[in-house]
Amino acid sequence: MYSKKVMELFRHPHNMGKIENPDGVGKVGNPVCGDVMYIYIKVGKNEKGEEIIEDIKFETFGCAAAIATSSMITDMAKGKTLEEAEKITRDDVANYLGGLPPIKMHCSNLAADGLKAAIADYRKKKPIKPEK
Ligand code: FES
Repeated sequence: MYSKKVMELFRHPHNMGKIENPDGVGKVGNPVCGDVMYIYIKVGKNEKGEEIIEDIKFETFGCAAAIATSSMITDMAKGKTLEEAEKITRDDVANYLGGLPPIKMHCSNLAADGLKAAIADYRKKKPIKPEK
């Protein structure tokens, strides 16, 4: 029922694991099945001085679709600015994966929501620069 790409990433996921001292962590749960996913990010700057996702990893305690979507979103987000990364939707992820079975779409929510949560966590922790 899964596409070839989903099975390939499920067997050989990219960016799996944890980042020590991450700049942001997103934790999301799937209310349907009770599975949980963590997304860890390190934020850096590109040559224009914009904030980018320098490194990103995930830990997913879920099904093949959840693991494949996590792997896919980490590859898609790496190197992007925070604004670009935030715009990645679950449909983008599913399209890159060659589609997901409809009953598994809720699993793919986790990856996009986890990434947004990690960016929100980073912004919340970031010290606010005093106005000049
Ligand atoms: Fe739990 Fe897919 S069944 S994440």
